[in-house]
Amino acid sequence: MAAERGQPGTVLITGAGRGLGRELARQYARTGWHVIACGRALPADGFETGVEFQPLDVADPASIHVLAERLAGRPISVLVNNAAVRSPAPGLDALEAKAFLDVIGANTLAPILMAKALLPNLRLAARPVVANISSRAGSMTEGLLDDDDDDYAYRCSKAALNMATVQLTRDLQVDEIVVLALHPGWVKTDMGGPKAVLPAAKSAQGLRHVIDRASIVESGSFLTFDGKRVGW
Ligand SMILES: NC(=O)c1ccc[n+]([C@@H]2O[C@H](COP(=O)([O-])OP(=O)(O)OC[C@H]3O[C@@H](n4cnc5c(N)ncnc54)[C@H](OP(=O)(O)O)[C@@H]3O)[C@@H](O)[C@H]2O)c1
Repeated sequence: MAAERGQPGTVLITGAGRGLGRELARQYARTGWHVIACGRALPADGFETGVEFQPLDVADPASIHVLAERLAGRPISVLVNNAAVRSPAPGLDALEAKAFLDVIGANTLAPILMAKALLPNLRLAARPVVANISSRAGSMTEGLLDDDDDDYAYRCSKAALNMATVQLTRDLQVDEIVVLALHPGWVKTDMGGPKAVLPAAKSAQGLRHVIDRASIVESGSFLTFDGKRVGW
């Protein structure tokens, strides 16, 4: 692994209003980063000092386009594609085309569109990183080992996000942009549920550390929040 990145820059986090995204925003701000916290709405209790809220619905390509226009000319060191949804009704019996495609739109297409739209901003930053928050649930080799989740759309969306990570790695290599797929662990959030084992603070701390230390050599890796490799 390369030396730590050092100087705080600007980090943009999608889905920053609650859950893991909120915790990442809090921690980055606390450690001197300028945080662009994106969400569909400003959380009722607002954000801490150092956090700039920007409205963004990742499921709406026009919303991504407008965000990129608003941010034109501003360097972004780290793009965290964190926002994601699960199926309203998982399971094969309940599977419906529209609901499936909605999950793919938010969890797979949106991170690709975000990277594309903010590429000029990433190019302006020193040692930029695109961190795609994926899930072990999308791993072909490990996803079914100890996980009886039956959400086809969610699993497929994260498996496809992993492929997008690999493709983006190749496309952005010329700009020396590091691209990562990251598994945050089973985290206590609305999505992870109350039985989850990992506090959001610990997951976020680990993810920041992995992002901070990643060099171009690790670009295209699928890593856990504590830096271990996940099988694709
Ligand atoms: N929790 C876990 O155990 C776990 C495990 C593996 C992977 N992950 C991944 O970790 C990431 C964070 O998950 P989490 O546990 O924090 O989930 P969460 O508590 O359900 O929060 C999801 C966040 O995504 C936002 N979001 C959803 N759809 C959006 C849209 N169309 N536009 C903008 N924002 C949108 C939500 O905003 P609203 O408030 O507007 O809905 C919310 O801020 C996700 O990528 C998830 O797949 C989580």
